[in-house]
Amino acid sequence: MFGKIASRNFSSTASTAYKVAVLGAGGGIGQPLSLLLKLNHKVTDLALYDIKGAPGVAADVSHVPTNSTVKGYNPDQIKEALTGSDVIVIPAGVPRKPGMSRDDLFNTNASIVRDLAKAAAEYSPNAALLIISNPVNSTVPIVAEVLKEKGVYNPKKLFGVTTLDVLRASRFVSEVAGTNPVNEKVTVVGGHSGVTIIPLLSQTVHKSLPTDKRDALVHRIQFGGDEVVKAKDGAGSATLSMAQAGARFASSVLDGLAGERDVIECTFVDSPLFKDEGVEFFSSKVTLGVDGVEKVHGLGELSDYEEGLVKEAKDTLIKNIKKGTDFAKQNP
Ligand code: 2OP
Repeated sequence: MFGKIASRNFSSTASTAYKVAVLGAGGGIGQPLSLLLKLNHKVTDLALYDIKGAPGVAADVSHVPTNSTVKGYNPDQIKEALTGSDVIVIPAGVPRKPGMSRDDLFNTNASIVRDLAKAAAEYSPNAALLIISNPVNSTVPIVAEVLKEKGVYNPKKLFGVTTLDVLRASRFVSEVAGTNPVNEKVTVVGGHSGVTIIPLLSQTVHKSLPTDKRDALVHRIQFGGDEVVKAKDGAGSATLSMAQAGARFASSVLDGLAGERDVIECTFVDSPLFKDEGVEFFSSKVTLGVDGVEKVHGLGELSDYEEGLVKEAKDTLIKNIKKGTDFAKQNP
């Protein structure tokens, strides 16, 4: 259902060469993400940008023998880094320390993401933008607002990366059920923080878990990021699993751009699902195609418990989204 499906049909018009830019490539997520992207055979041109350190990461990663060019760029070279990009992945910003929520990062990361979005709008307005920088529930609306202001907003090409929640759901459910996580496919909807992360366990074979086990599992998926923040003890948040999540999502976006069929991922997008209730962005299953978002899927049948989680998430999301939009409007 997710990611790669063994036998896909291909559209005949798709390109086979893609430039991918990583903004924040010198950081904890950016470095392993750059390595994983170097291993992706669809990536022919890998542009690594950061405020410092990107040329070093690029030189290092460039020795991996796959058929792509890797270049590192410093801040005065952002135009060259971005020009011609098909996909731009943004993990730039600061991570959490113990006791912080993702929202606590807003003040620092909002302006970083805003400025990178401005550069993307200017130098690569047709690229797909994959936002990893937290708080994703607010940074995605910031990027949308910047792109609107510049007249280049394409809602089909702006994505909040929520794939780590899907990976955690597979992993954690397998630990409870004693199964192989590779075979566990869990749809995770809503957003990317705490109560906005909603794994739809009722749509899996684990729908009959006892209530206490189900509640504990849902809580662990919602707050899995905190386990890493706590264990890293001041040294940051998830970087390696986040890089894997970002690389998987970027790979699926490229598969879609390349005309492969039935490419489906959960992602936080400009969504029709709850717009009439004031929720402009929402994560759900999305089919990825040659133009980015091809179809935003509905949530499917939910249990009463999940209906309650979605209701609670909507209230938080409306606030998170407004915070991002207001910031971008007030600090253009
Ligand atoms: C996480 O979920 C870093 O937001 C990321 O751990």
